[in-house]
Amino acid sequence: MEEAQLVDEIRRLKQEKRVAVLAHYYTAPQVQRLADCVGDSLALAYEATRLTSEVVVVCGVHFMGETVKILAPTKKVLLPDVNASCSLAESCEYTAFKKFVEAHPHHTVVSYVNTSAAVKSLTDICCTSSNALAIVNSLPKSEKVLFAPDRNLASYIKAQTGREDMLVWDGACHVHERFSVEKIVELKGQHPNAKVLAHPECKKPVLILADEVGSTAALLKYSQLSTAKEFIVATEAGILYQMQRSSPDKTFIPVPPTDSTCGCNDCEYMKLITLQKLYLSLQHEVHEVLIEEALRKKAERSIVSMLDLSKKLGL
Ligand code: 13P
Repeated sequence: MEEAQLVDEIRRLKQEKRVAVLAHYYTAPQVQRLADCVGDSLALAYEATRLTSEVVVVCGVHFMGETVKILAPTKKVLLPDVNASCSLAESCEYTAFKKFVEAHPHHTVVSYVNTSAAVKSLTDICCTSSNALAIVNSLPKSEKVLFAPDRNLASYIKAQTGREDMLVWDGACHVHERFSVEKIVELKGQHPNAKVLAHPECKKPVLILADEVGSTAALLKYSQLSTAKEFIVATEAGILYQMQRSSPDKTFIPVPPTDSTCGCNDCEYMKLITLQKLYLSLQHEVHEVLIEEALRKKAERSIVSMLDLSKKLGL
């Protein structure tokens, strides 16, 4: 099918079947354009608690589908591609993480939502890049914290909170770890007035160069409010679509990965979500995310705690 026809079919199926489509900022622009809600991980989790339709397609990676299913267990939650994984979630395997948690009792376990439902079941409170700092800050200084799975976000939080004793799982996001100081310095040379925006999953030397460090939603907001005209963006390239859309008069420059000649840093998992797969997902109601109820309940506690605290903090 041609793209225009696919778009029409997706719109028709969404309406006919009354299906909600949620999409993360890292998905392809064509997919974002068709979504009822586009957001960062925190926004998508909130949206999961407000769903009115019985079926929802999550255009994002696997843990995002799981998060929606955990929060909306009576809904039919679909993922257009089951292979849309997340390197961060993969870097924190359940059995190994369980051992790590058991080896460090008396710690409050704070895990990123970029984890499996099984890892969430071992977690006291989840966080996303939007609220990680606030969540860790809300814990009394006397409380020992075990943070998983992103070592770069953890190192950023340590620097911001002074909690140097925070115990950290050694995981990382392959997309954000690819950004290098050299490429950013090179781009800064070409665009000296540009502001550098970076996601906290980038390595520390990259974050030091940044004018703003934040979640995808925070970086988008910064780009809207800033008086600067040019921005060097060190996060997954999908967000550039929303940045450009809301600030058409500004220039957004993606930072290419060090190890590639391509112009932007795409997450290949996010880009598995194509229009064709969204169409098939809507048409055949595949691929359903299913979580065993006992596990779902255990995982739910950590996400609900995160949402409750985030609401209280006004996030
Ligand atoms: P946020 O949605 O919290 O910005 O993080 C996205 C993500 O998955 C980064 O790897």
